[in-house]
Amino acid sequence: MMRIYTLIFITIILTACEPKHNGAGMSPSGISASAGKQLFVDNCARCHQISGQGGPAPGGLPAPDIRQPRKSPAELRQIITFGFGKMPSFHDSISDMQISEIADYVAVQIERHPEYR
Ligand code: HEC
Repeated sequence: MMRIYTLIFITIILTACEPKHNGAGMSPSGISASAGKQLFVDNCARCHQISGQGGPAPGGLPAPDIRQPRKSPAELRQIITFGFGKMPSFHDSISDMQISEIADYVAVQIERHPEYR
């Protein structure tokens, strides 16, 4: 099992180092945006969609479009950590580091890269 994670980790590093990213693949805090994307897909996309545009979520909750209004990484960290209205909190299920990665991904990547939508 650990081997798979190691492999995924290496793949993420290699992907982040591809020249086509030209530095733009790194978030403001220097964390690999690919890791943030995977964490977003795993933790957020079931409600907000991979695109971030939202829609009907499990339990009949409508999940809002999180691409707009634009939020700062700090605001996003707050929302992910403690939850927001009917949205669950994540501090029990993922680490602070992972929360930061997701926040940076949402703040920067979703909007800048149409191919992620
Ligand atoms: C179980 C479904 C669900 C999951 C999983 C989920 N959300 Fe949400 N999210 C919601 C709902 C529903 C709301 C609106 C809550 C409200 O207004 O009461 C919301 C609100 C938000 C908002 C605030 C939007 C605004 O209008 O200001 C942000 C940002 C957000 N979510 C990001 C995330 C991120 C990032 C993740 C992954 C870590 C995530 N959400 C996971 C359902 C979810």
